Amino acid sequence: MKKLILLSALLFLIACGTETNEAETAVPNETSTSSESSGMGMGGGMGMGGGMMARHNAPIPDEYADLSSNVEASEESLTRGGELFTTYCATCHGDGGMGDGPAAANLDPAPVAIAHTSQMMGDNYLFWRISEGGQGDPFNSAMPAWGAALSEQDRWDLINYMRALGDGTAPNMGGMMGGATYDPNAEATRQADMLIQAVEQGVLTQAEADLFAEVHAELDTNMTRGMQMQGNMGQMQDVLLAQLVDLGTISQEQADQFSDIHTRLLEAGLMQ
Ligand code: HEC
Repeated sequence: MKKLILLSALLFLIACGTETNEAETAVPNETSTSSESSGMGMGGGMGMGGGMMARHNAPIPDEYADLSSNVEASEESLTRGGELFTTYCATCHGDGGMGDGPAAANLDPAPVAIAHTSQMMGDNYLFWRISEGGQGDPFNSAMPAWGAALSEQDRWDLINYMRALGDGTAPNMGGMMGGATYDPNAEATRQADMLIQAVEQGVLTQAEADLFAEVHAELDTNMTRGMQMQGNMGQMQDVLLAQLVDLGTISQEQADQFSDIHTRLLEAGLMQ
């Protein structure tokens, strides 16, 4: 079950955790429109490929680069994190952390479904983003900076709680903001639909779509929560792929193809 959840988290990251915004053009693209109208509140699909790549690979500033959490996801930490989340974050990110709080509809880029993204993002990345928010490139978002308002302990508790929302271990905080909760089956369906679309649009060949799905299945089998949680999404994806190559599960060539396919899906705006 854990593995299924982790796979879904990765699928989600690849599919959804890449939103950015195109403040310069201020023209929401079709992807963002459909993401909103689908009511999924996945907080993705903003802007065109270049911005998505920039966000995916956003360099973590030096002062945060070496941080890693030493706050265990104990019941106390999760409860504290849950209280903070319900108070400060759910209005945008939703009670379930799926990016669909009541304030989300008016935001572009939309709030991220951090229940998912936090599964596959490093401690250092998450701590940076919570501390400094979304001002400036490549984010240019309404995500507030919490570094002054919340203690370091608070921020680590929040990170524990966000990850717990995505793996089903979060205590129920009885939040009032509503929104979806994490659903691995829904994510798998979305991923499959996205690949069909990619083939229809000529972004991928059927063989490439199959390879993409296949490598995901291997990631599912081999991923563990024990992995080093450091880096932005691009870096974490690279680490996972390298692990699979080391294990002999996939070839270096397949890993390279996967990365290439992933980049093209981002650039085509198919990743929401
Ligand atoms: C006013 C709405 C709003 C509130 C309140 C808010 N966020 Fe956000 N948040 C956003 C938006 C919009 C994004 C997506 C754009 C971005 O990454 O800057 C985001 C992105 C993030 C990200 C980056 C995730 C990723 O995948 O890159 C994290 C982490 C995050 N928020 C955590 C929090 C936490 C924790 C709180 C509460 C302490 C919070 N947010 C409160 C709007 C909000």
